[in-house]
Amino acid sequence: MSGADVSAVDGIGLPWPSSAVRDDAGALSVAGVSATALAAEHGTPAYVLDEGEFRTRARAFVTAFEAAFAQVGTGVDVYYAGKALLTVAVARWAREEGLRVDTASGGELAVALAAGVPGAQIGLHGNNKSDAELAAALDAQVGRIVVDSLGEVERVADLAAVRGVVAPVMVRVTTGVHAGGHEFIATAHEDQKFGLSVHAGPGGGDAPAMRALLRILERPSLHLLGIHSHIGSQILDADGFAQAADAVLRLRADLVARTGVLVDEVDLGGGYGIAYLPGDEQLDPAPVAHRLAAAVARVCTDLGTALPRISIEPGRAIVGPAGITLYTVGTVKPVSVTADDGSTFTRLYVSIDGGMSDNIRPALYGAAYHAELAGRTSSAPPVLARVVGKHCESGDIVVDQVMLPADVAPGDLLAVAATGAYGRSMASNYNLLPRPPVVAVHGGASRVLVRRETVDDLLGLDLG
Ligand code: LLP
Repeated sequence: MSGADVSAVDGIGLPWPSSAVRDDAGALSVAGVSATALAAEHGTPAYVLDEGEFRTRARAFVTAFEAAFAQVGTGVDVYYAGKALLTVAVARWAREEGLRVDTASGGELAVALAAGVPGAQIGLHGNNKSDAELAAALDAQVGRIVVDSLGEVERVADLAAVRGVVAPVMVRVTTGVHAGGHEFIATAHEDQKFGLSVHAGPGGGDAPAMRALLRILERPSLHLLGIHSHIGSQILDADGFAQAADAVLRLRADLVARTGVLVDEVDLGGGYGIAYLPGDEQLDPAPVAHRLAAAVARVCTDLGTALPRISIEPGRAIVGPAGITLYTVGTVKPVSVTADDGSTFTRLYVSIDGGMSDNIRPALYGAAYHAELAGRTSSAPPVLARVVGKHCESGDIVVDQVMLPADVAPGDLLAVAATGAYGRSMASNYNLLPRPPVVAVHGGASRVLVRRETVDDLLGLDLG
């Protein structure tokens, strides 16, 4: 998504939304709304979501993948992965831009339905779906349930049979290709909870994925739509996707050889990487789409099978760069640190009014973020700073290292970039902090999508 698609010529550049600029007062402004105005109206901390950036990125995936796969003669469905961030408005935006919605729980399914997304355009994932979740999906007539275990095949079939319906299912497979960050690795087996392996176990016999496919064909209350593969997240290289597609297409060809059934659809999952820091690269959907379309076409020709319809499930790459988090600085504390080589330096600890409860990713994954003063610019010299939260944990770090102006002071607004994905959706109430609101900005105006929690909300859950 580099180039004209989303990078405004006069914006401040990645990892900020393309509408982000510094206004005349030096304040960071997104979609024409200044951080100062946002903080005054909505308070801090606040998740701020640039609706235009979300829509542009969503549309870019649809356009790029449709064009690339049309060239090789098949179609594509793009599912927005709601786990990255799902609110009723966000689901509507996705739908309006031509995407479907991928859900991973009954809660996500309920939000997608509340947004008016037709069941037929919703997928349900999960390695441990409850009967209630499966029942809700069947009642909503979702377009696909992605089954994740042999036991689930039977459970979905039984629940569908009781209802007198035929459930459309895909099988989530593991190909041994695992990607994330800059590299991918291909191993025979993956030691993780998701999916069913395309490789036979040491005892021989059919691979778990093949067993699931065969069993689905035996159950009249199931319709086998296709095969699903998701290889990882924050992927910056198309090789892993192509290699996984190859393995999935071979499994599909094996199934035809065994049964004469050629499944219609192959889902290649999500995982498209974004820029978190200035200078980071992001994965542009157009070249990846062309690369994948060519790979899928080549493998299908080799195997002598017709091309499947393709689907993908990007989450982070659509919503991540559309979001920033606004905080207010509280305590500022210089700490003298002794380096490994015995030298000492000063690190400025800048405490903000949120922390690991609104962004767990640095603590959970060591994820790096970028922050800047949002209410003003400063000509003070930059100093090495660490942005930390207000929780009772020394690991409560939001930005591990960033250069901030030496005069950063209590009351300053601070913005952290690229927090749109897996920020609010993974937020907690640790230390009983109420979760921040999600505020959309568009065309110079702001609107609350999810209101700020209050201590009364938290007390309301506590029955004493
Ligand atoms: N489809 C499936 C089946 C998935 O499991 C996921 C992510 C996606 C699509 C969307 O992946 P995306 O395009 O957003 O990378 N909490 C972690 C990411 C976990 C992703 C889990 N599955 C993080 O904050 O980095």
